[in-house]
Amino acid sequence: MPLLVKKAIFPVAGLGTRFLPATKAQPKEMLPVVDKPLIQYAVEEAYAAGVREMIFVTGRHKRPIEDHFDMTFELELALEQAGKHELLEVVRSVKPDDMECIYVRQAQPLGLGHAVLCGQRLVGDQPFAVLLADDLMVGPPDGKPVLAQMVEQFAEWRASILAVQEVPAEQTRRYGIVAGQAVNDRVVDVTQIVEKPAPEVAPSRLGVAGRYILTPGVFDEISAQPRGVGGEIQLTDGIASMLRREKVFAYRYEGKRYDCGSKEGFLQATVELALAHPQLGPGFRDFLRGVDL
Ligand code: UTP
Repeated sequence: MPLLVKKAIFPVAGLGTRFLPATKAQPKEMLPVVDKPLIQYAVEEAYAAGVREMIFVTGRHKRPIEDHFDMTFELELALEQAGKHELLEVVRSVKPDDMECIYVRQAQPLGLGHAVLCGQRLVGDQPFAVLLADDLMVGPPDGKPVLAQMVEQFAEWRASILAVQEVPAEQTRRYGIVAGQAVNDRVVDVTQIVEKPAPEVAPSRLGVAGRYILTPGVFDEISAQPRGVGGEIQLTDGIASMLRREKVFAYRYEGKRYDCGSKEGFLQATVELALAHPQLGPGFRDFLRGVDL
């Protein structure tokens, strides 16, 4: 099995109901945090980890995502003629020349597992990453982005890697929860994974964040799944049955996750990323100091 992860699936076919009405006619993945849409943060994270083939699993109303990663000839020409070279660079850097974007439709949003399965033919027999753009991940200031950390773990363990974080006991219902034997202070050899358990039955408090590196064996496992929690075909259930055949490791990533699928998480990301922004940060900090709290 190749040790490099060259392909990533971005499931972007969900309905985004938690973010209505903003998501009534536009994909939640196009909501901007400061100055970039959520999906661009995820694509940049994948690119920084060495991924070059981006596979978007799209649905209705998702055209803006395709447009975003397409060439915008008129805009580029206008910026060039106006001598706005910095902005031209910003626009061109959205899709570097060596990055390929491929789109596949999920006709009905039948769940995350089903969305991943839609990418099977494009992924083939290779390890691949899955990134959920509504989880915005920020790596440590002096370290690597989260997916790049996971690619390193994959090269070491040669098995599927799930990004995890400790979650408060009362929030286990929002996550896939894993349990297993600690291999070191960041890595757990997973023996159990359950989708959205109640706190009383959750096997641990290690919740899966929206980053995965999976071996292609997961596709057959997902195909064999009946509908799970919420009537959806769950990726978690596919991974659970994969545990019978292959090793899976959970990795406590270094960095911070913002749940931008929820309004609160989105606001937190906006404030913190604006404060960290090299140009906007100082002025925004002054503004916040003056806010009547
Ligand atoms: P979520 O459950 O967070 O997204 O799925 P959602 O369904 O869009 O949002 P809510 O809960 O209604 O607000 C996580 C990710 O999986 C994708 C979503 O687009 C999101 O990025 N997804 C989910 C699919 O692509 N297809 C599906 O059938 C379900």
